[in-house]
Amino acid sequence: MSQRKIFATTALPYANGNFHIGHIMEYIQADTWVRAQRMQGNQVNFVGADDAHGAPIMIAAEKAGKTPQQFVADIAAGRKQYLDGFHIAFDNWSNTDSPENHELSKQIYRDLKAAGFIETRTIEQFFDPEKNMFLPDRFIKGECPRCHAKDQYGDNCEVCSSVYAPTDLINPFSALSGATPVMKTSEHFFFKLSDPRAVEFLNEWTQDGKHVQPEVAAKIKEWFGVRTNPDGSTSEGLDDWDISRDAPYFGIEIPDAPGKYFYVWLDAPVGYLASLKELLNKRGEDYDAYMADPDLEQYHFIGKDIITFHTLFWPAMLKFSGRKTPTKICVHGFLTVNNGEKMSKSRGTGLDPMKYLALNMNPEWLRYYLGAKLNGKNEDIDFTAEDFMLRVNSDLIGKYVNIASRAAGFIAKRFEGKLGAVSQDGQALLTQLREAKAGIVTAYENRDSARAARDIMTLCDRVNSYVDANKPWELAKQEGMDARLQDVCTTCIEAFRLLTIYLKPILPAVATQVQAFLNVSPLQFADADSLLGAGHTIGKYEHLMQRVVVEQLDALFEPPAAPVVEAVKPGGEEIAPTITIDDFAKIDLRIAKIVECKAVEGSTKLLQLTLDAGEGKTRNVFSGIASMYKPEQLQGKLTVLVANLAPRKMKFGISEGMVLAASHADEKAVPGIYVLEPFPGAQPGMRIG
Ligand code: MSP
Ligand code: ZN
Repeated sequence: MSQRKIFATTALPYANGNFHIGHIMEYIQADTWVRAQRMQGNQVNFVGADDAHGAPIMIAAEKAGKTPQQFVADIAAGRKQYLDGFHIAFDNWSNTDSPENHELSKQIYRDLKAAGFIETRTIEQFFDPEKNMFLPDRFIKGECPRCHAKDQYGDNCEVCSSVYAPTDLINPFSALSGATPVMKTSEHFFFKLSDPRAVEFLNEWTQDGKHVQPEVAAKIKEWFGVRTNPDGSTSEGLDDWDISRDAPYFGIEIPDAPGKYFYVWLDAPVGYLASLKELLNKRGEDYDAYMADPDLEQYHFIGKDIITFHTLFWPAMLKFSGRKTPTKICVHGFLTVNNGEKMSKSRGTGLDPMKYLALNMNPEWLRYYLGAKLNGKNEDIDFTAEDFMLRVNSDLIGKYVNIASRAAGFIAKRFEGKLGAVSQDGQALLTQLREAKAGIVTAYENRDSARAARDIMTLCDRVNSYVDANKPWELAKQEGMDARLQDVCTTCIEAFRLLTIYLKPILPAVATQVQAFLNVSPLQFADADSLLGAGHTIGKYEHLMQRVVVEQLDALFEPPAAPVVEAVKPGGEEIAPTITIDDFAKIDLRIAKIVECKAVEGSTKLLQLTLDAGEGKTRNVFSGIASMYKPEQLQGKLTVLVANLAPRKMKFGISEGMVLAASHADEKAVPGIYVLEPFPGAQPGMRIG
């Protein structure tokens, strides 16, 4: 079979918070699929990016006192530890504010305009009279005009998934100020989805059985039918899509339209292409040539809440700007935790993926558990603690890992690590295992990892029955049974290799360990067509995986020590996100003696400290504590120094570290800053940890 050329993406997460478990689930699903493709020899470019634009991020950045660019960069800096932690191997991670995305978004817009798909119209829009700005959709709330769910956002309903204009909301209010918004006119740009060409194309594209799952196609069909509008009138076909927003807005300015920006959902999916382009550029490959290949397949993995954007707007944007349309939109349902409610879109609850990693829980347990539940359909799944423990322990440890641990010792001790000949019963078993390959590969292709896992576990059961029937531990004690012992254990090792091939898309790190143990190069699906064979020497078996223990799950779901009730904010701010011990170890805190302390001329805030941290030289540190201490109060005292902080140039000189001090988040409400002093006995230079 010839090699397929595939471009795959996951939805671009809003850059206003850390990943939650729902994001991780989507990445695990896509990563597993991508790995299965690669194991078939297909060439895949797998890219992601942060969705940087839009009013919510602009407003959040303002609140945090940062530029939107800095705000997004700070969130982006936290991504890697999650992705690496769960073995999610994107080839590139970009963000939608990249130069590539600015350029591509504008080009697609120009192409759509040239094709007659852009129209301007003066519309009335909600304006917050207190905040003095047009209200972004996300900051208008009210009742859904279609299903009457309360407290829905201005652009789409999370209950019935309808997409509408904010002005359609019943009893709207500003989520920024609480004010009742007033109507104001503004010129907006529209993408004419009502154009018969678009309606015809999308009807065909979504209903031809090729591009979306059947259950998704059925849902989309409803959006094409006759609908009753909030004002009682009816419409058919599709509504035009409002793609512009007025300044102030963090986004991409529309060509030839000063003060007008693309609505974030216009440039966000273009970010898929921009991230790919960035990747190809880095590798010195040509983006246009890559995209021009008619055999290139394009897959987008998304959740059910963003179907409209990916099955109507996005294919239409691509089609009518003269570009290649996606091969498939792969929709998954939502993950809930411990029978919990749907997690909020941007703020996950229940299972903090960083805490999971910090507790040293094995990321492949989660990959397997979720993989064993995801069946390629648009269905919700639930993470349940007990179910997780049972599933992982019984399948991965009890069935799979067990096979290797039962056979490896005998091969090592009795046969110098050498495999022997496999007799007929063993061959029959291995043939069964090898014949299962096609079904498992197809299951992965259809994102039905649940089916793949089920099939693989059935095979594990067969191998374990074979072991139970042949009892190698008894053969080992019997005279003259050496050849049979080697035969049975060889069968187990050969079987274990085949099972590892099948599990590798889900368990990449275990597979790497097994490759070392078996002394083989990276396993591909094609390797299941052959066996290691007699005479092959395996390496040393090291235990591949621990069991899940209940204490870990208790710790994972134990509420944080300081309850994160909205109202309780110790010291005026919430406890920062969990870090690992390695993160903490990066900060080198030392005891330092304040050998000298002086006022700083020209500053009412700063004191200049000369510190001895036992380094054989002193350091100069400026500290904003002049409101609280006179220099002579501090001189001679011990305190805590952040000793490995990069030196910082300040107006009055270079500061070579930072002294720790406590203060309330709201300095005005609770004034005061208090320098830390160690208990007696601490000496300059001692490390704190
Ligand atoms: N920024 C948009 C996507 C733009 S794509 C061009 C967005 N971001 S998001 O952060 O809210 O969601 C990112 C992905 O996570 C979406 O596919 C969404 O469906 C998925 N999930 C969010 N919560 C989820 C669960 N609880 N469970 C599974 N997936 C969930 O939408
Ligand atoms: Zn609704």
